[in-house]
Amino acid sequence: MRVFIMKTAEEASKTAADVMEKAVRAKPELVIGLATGSTPLGLYNEMIRRCKEDGLDFSRASSFNLDEYFGVRPDHPCSYRRFMNENLFDHINIDKARTHVPDGMAADIEAHCRLYDKMIHDAGNVDVQVLGIGSDGHIGFNEPTCSLASRTHRIYLTEQTRRDNARFFDKLDDVPTQAITMGIGTILESRTCLMLAFGANKADAVAGMIEGPVTAMNPASALQYHNDTVVFIDEAAASKLKLRGYYDAAAAAAL
Ligand code: F6R
Repeated sequence: MRVFIMKTAEEASKTAADVMEKAVRAKPELVIGLATGSTPLGLYNEMIRRCKEDGLDFSRASSFNLDEYFGVRPDHPCSYRRFMNENLFDHINIDKARTHVPDGMAADIEAHCRLYDKMIHDAGNVDVQVLGIGSDGHIGFNEPTCSLASRTHRIYLTEQTRRDNARFFDKLDDVPTQAITMGIGTILESRTCLMLAFGANKADAVAGMIEGPVTAMNPASALQYHNDTVVFIDEAAASKLKLRGYYDAAAAAAL
């Protein structure tokens, strides 16, 4: 993993946007993996700005989102489809027909999950996968003890995740208990993973992901087996890392 510790989330988001921009300019048909939540918003705002002001062209790109709440309609105010439309797709020139979010209302969930993996595979796999990390170490909605080889599947959410995400809902009871998520195995097939994490409440999860043993108790630690993961974090999220000096030296050497 290459670890870049930035002074602010804003700086980290802009640097992540540089990686995204370079990738889209090099390959206009880029297959982009996307995440929801608070963390990628700075990156998405920067992608929007660069599309509008710098002509960054997403017209030939396609996207696959990591996850969606189970039992939630795409037009529900808290659905991840709606989140993506409002926070990114409505503001860049991507063809919405080529944006994919798992269908939380699929009649046959097992078949839908298999189809989602097949669509990713048929698209040539994800080129750049944007990731955030849960305070319990989840990526996508792969919760602790989830198989590190998992494919897209339905999962029961931890209480901690539901509490963390309750801010998007009127009350905790409204937060769905289940979701559909790309599996860890699916995520590991992405060519580049772009992990962002900000704030002190991510510090334990981030330390486990980068320096801890690979364990299903911290699903993000599976990224230690991925050969092109770039981590952009702020000072607070980096506060529990032991090898801080090493990461800074390697970053200064522009590795
Ligand atoms: C959402 C997702 C999750 C979030 C994680 C962090 O699509 O994949 O893994 O990235 O829960 O959420 P925030 O960014 O809201 O702290």
